[in-house]
Amino acid sequence: LGRKVLVTAGPTQEAIDPVRYITNHSSGKMGYALAKAAMLRGADVTLVSGPCAIEPPPFVKLVPVVTAKEMFDAVTSVSFEQDIIIKAAAVADYRPANVYEDKVKKHEEQMSIKLEKTDDILGYLGEHRLPGQFLCGFSMETEHMLENSRAKLAKKNADMIVANNLKVAGAGFGTDTNVVTLITADDCRELEIMSKADVASAIVSEILKKMC
Ligand code: CTP
Repeated sequence: LGRKVLVTAGPTQEAIDPVRYITNHSSGKMGYALAKAAMLRGADVTLVSGPCAIEPPPFVKLVPVVTAKEMFDAVTSVSFEQDIIIKAAAVADYRPANVYEDKVKKHEEQMSIKLEKTDDILGYLGEHRLPGQFLCGFSMETEHMLENSRAKLAKKNADMIVANNLKVAGAGFGTDTNVVTLITADDCRELEIMSKADVASAIVSEILKKMC
């Protein structure tokens, strides 16, 4: 392969105070499997990963990050040299607008936390793409998966969106299997249920096919 591939994986954590944070159920398994699949084909792989409890694959450059902002900075500082970027990370869409310096004590019956939008990393990459660079995003939906994912493909100026429906058995968070649909501007292909390793290999094959 001899290409440079950047994969993002895992969740991000957005601090509320020194004790608590906002995150999601991403395990990192799909992203780590993608990094491994690209490495096995001889790519020079950088894996930008949010906090995960799994072993990173060997022979990839691991860049650990915690927040969406850190992931944005880590990705955009090397994105210009990548041939393929696969954004499997479940990046927080919002973070607390203010991070409390001290632990928040309980007082009222109800309390709210003001949130602000994070920067859309894939959206940024789509706006600043290099000629020939392939951008692959992920889309996790619980309803209207195809319509929403096609909208994301266009909005974020990506080449491919790997969509999965959280409500389908064997798909989504924490599982070792996944059920995904590969969506490009002119194609839409649902893969049968398979291991995340096999899904990763199929995604890498599809990207290479689309690039030539
Ligand atoms: N993504 C990103 N930066 C963000 C949020 C998401 O790069 N701040 C990327 C994810 O890594 C994924 C894709 O965008 O590849 C889809 O993420 P998702 O959160 O499902 O899409 P949104 O556009 O945020 O749409 P919605 O919130 O309406 O589902």
